[in-house]
Amino acid sequence: MIKTVITGIKPTGHPHIGNYFGAIKPAIEMSKKSDYACFYFIADYHSLTTTQGAKELTDLSYEVACTWLACGLDPSKVLLYKQSDIPEIFELSWILSNLAPKGLLNRAHAYKAMVEKNREDKVDDDFNVNMGLFCYPILMAADILIMNAEYVPVGLDQKQHVEIARDICNYFNKKYGETFVMPTAIIDRNVSTVLGTDGRKMSKSYNNEIPLFCDRTVLEKKIRGLKTDSSLPNEPKDTNSTIFEFYKLFATRQQVEIMQKKFEEGISWADAKSELFRVMDAYISPMREKYNYYMSHKDEVDSIISEGSKKARELAKLTITKVRNAIGVV
Ligand code: ADP
Ligand code: TRP
Repeated sequence: MIKTVITGIKPTGHPHIGNYFGAIKPAIEMSKKSDYACFYFIADYHSLTTTQGAKELTDLSYEVACTWLACGLDPSKVLLYKQSDIPEIFELSWILSNLAPKGLLNRAHAYKAMVEKNREDKVDDDFNVNMGLFCYPILMAADILIMNAEYVPVGLDQKQHVEIARDICNYFNKKYGETFVMPTAIIDRNVSTVLGTDGRKMSKSYNNEIPLFCDRTVLEKKIRGLKTDSSLPNEPKDTNSTIFEFYKLFATRQQVEIMQKKFEEGISWADAKSELFRVMDAYISPMREKYNYYMSHKDEVDSIISEGSKKARELAKLTITKVRNAIGVV
């Protein structure tokens, strides 16, 4: 039986290596297997909770689309589409919001974090909280359920959202009869959370990210600027450092073993950084070339997305008809 796989990326900033290892790479690997039908999309309406303006949203949406293509998405096998091209998702989101208990959403991490911050700052709990942020997990449930997706490859930070989608799926199926497929998050345990330059989770919102596709010289500067401890050349180096962690992501197992020895023997931080830059650049370069190609051939990207959106919408229409029948809107 063919299983459906879905994942989305918000166009809220330049895609970074956390997005790549946490979501994009596992999703691309799944798409290469013949028993999966894959739906990968640009979650542009989700990004309205944070993006600043029209131009930013348009530009970043292209960046996400070109990143998918550069990282190996094959449009003849995977539907690449834009959430905003599928109005049925928003219809479903409203329907689902009538089944989602407010208490469940009170516990969703992004909203909860905002409330906690407001309490620390001694301002009203709801300060700066809009309904888009509060209802974010319902829209995500609609994205997933409308495509009957079984698997959702995401980073660890999205696990809770997929669990909320599972709860909502259950509420609906119990009330109206079996309609939706139960989704499961697929989290790569080895890279469930890529840490950023400051040791916190790498995120566009923390300004601690290493962009996946920046100019080589910018990448090198970022690597050179990574903070290290004060151990001197010839002294053993800590393999828990950001530098070793990043190295493990990009290097082969054999390269990692060699590097581990060099760390024990006391490679200088400057040399460790050079080695890191070398493996990263070798890994990223072929993808960067493709990325730059697509960024300067946006008409090709548009036509891939419009084809993907058309096909994804056909499925969304079938699901929404089933849902309307189930709830009595005929
Ligand atoms: P960000 O936190 O930078 O805004 P997104 O929320 O757009 O990233 O995440 C897109 C995908 O990338 C999600 O599946 C998310 O779980 C994954 N992801 C984001 N940051 C990381 C990280 N630091 N490590 C692993 N996966 C991540
Ligand atoms: N919420 C996800 C994130 O912040 C993006 C997203 C939106 C998503 N809809 C989705 C991921 C559906 C997987 C499936 O990263």
